[in-house]
Amino acid sequence: MFGYDIGISGGVTGMDGFLIKFFPIVYKRKLRAKEDNYCKYDDQYLQLFTSSLYLAALISSFPASKVCTKFGRKPTILVASVFFLLGSGLSAGAHQMWMLILGRISLGCGVGFGNEAVPLFLSEIAPVEYRGAVNILFQLFITIGILIANLVNYGTSKVHPWGWRLSLGLAAIPATGLFIGSLIIPETPTSLVERNHEEKGRKTLKKIRGVDNVDPEFEQIKVACEIARRVKHPYRSLMKLSSMPPLIIGIMMQVFQQFTGINAIMFYAPILFQTVGFKNDASLLSAIITGLVNVFCTVVSIYAVDKVGRRLLLLQACVQMFVSQTAIGGILLAKLNATNSLPKGQAWVVVVLVCVYVSSFAWSWGPLGWLIPSETFPLETRTAGFAFAVSSNMLFTFVIAQSFLSMMCHMRAGIFLFFAGWIVIMGIFVLFLLPETKGVPIDEMKERVWKKHPIWKKFMSDDADDRAKKTIEMS
Ligand code: BGC
Repeated sequence: MFGYDIGISGGVTGMDGFLIKFFPIVYKRKLRAKEDNYCKYDDQYLQLFTSSLYLAALISSFPASKVCTKFGRKPTILVASVFFLLGSGLSAGAHQMWMLILGRISLGCGVGFGNEAVPLFLSEIAPVEYRGAVNILFQLFITIGILIANLVNYGTSKVHPWGWRLSLGLAAIPATGLFIGSLIIPETPTSLVERNHEEKGRKTLKKIRGVDNVDPEFEQIKVACEIARRVKHPYRSLMKLSSMPPLIIGIMMQVFQQFTGINAIMFYAPILFQTVGFKNDASLLSAIITGLVNVFCTVVSIYAVDKVGRRLLLLQACVQMFVSQTAIGGILLAKLNATNSLPKGQAWVVVVLVCVYVSSFAWSWGPLGWLIPSETFPLETRTAGFAFAVSSNMLFTFVIAQSFLSMMCHMRAGIFLFFAGWIVIMGIFVLFLLPETKGVPIDEMKERVWKKHPIWKKFMSDDADDRAKKTIEMS
């Protein structure tokens, strides 16, 4: 659902039927043949169509974290699916702007609830040695959602003038899948124990591990829950010095993920490809190609993440993304005038470079942006901390969605160099501040990761939590 929502808006905002109905001024500007390439879609309302969803997701991730702790991961996912169903209906049937925006807000709440619960769910049910791989299924299905949305847009762009309704309405299919799925899945053992359903938690753990003896793992979960229960105000504990390392890492991973510039491509690829001179059809097709690369390269990271580790993947990708962004910026700067298009050959070189860029994002910052914040918080601040990570992601997704078309209009090709600059900063961040978390059990991060890191260990005093943990372990 998240992926479908990301992928669908770029194509829909390029469809004439949609523009005529809701954005007639943008449509007229699009028709003027000599219009400035970089600026023809620069419209705050058009961007608001895309971005409003992320604003709603940002706000709803905080109530979602409360529901997630109080009622569990499973009901949180159920609530998400209801928002999604409502949102697809409203936006597909929209006759006026307010319906369209209300639909986007409802979808956004779905994303806020879903993105809070699903990565945590995955990290908590996964056996430690496959935690990275299992968690990346989240990202894999985001990319599949984006690809399906691109394919749908390709088909519906030929259905004039209501193809856009089909694009938005078909979201109801995965939403129904999520609804049914959320009724079938088990609750995570951690969440069950945390809410005092100990026996049910043990039973579920046995079921998902497929063995009878789960005592060592179950004991670990119990200790973590016991500590978590003593924390009455998770948001307040999150502000303690010792919570800073995972909090800073969780937030920065998400901020940086967005400043790779990925959503400039994911939301607006069809528009970008039109800008370099492709016709509508060819640009939608190019978006499908980048979508395919995104899916296949995410699979690479499923295999690599628990073997080569998180840091290596992120650093390698920084180099590859920097080179491809700079090359795209360079070509456009040198060759693309405001009213011309690129020669065919060079336009295709841009498509290939976009694929090189997307591939490295797909095996690194895409999945790891979600994985790392979901595995580094101790249980007592996990849902609250992860809510900060989710909302930072949504805030910066919103910023990019709301400003990319205007930034492209004002900065022109320089926009790619702007993102390349950010990639250098994030590379330095990983190099010095991001510890390796491969193979470390989720509830032992503090001892084995933070307390051993040359910089972060300074934040880890032997505080009340540690003393509580020792008392519980001794008893
Ligand atoms: C990001 C999205 C992005 C997608 C692309 C996700 O991890 O959070 O913003 O569009 O990856 O595959």
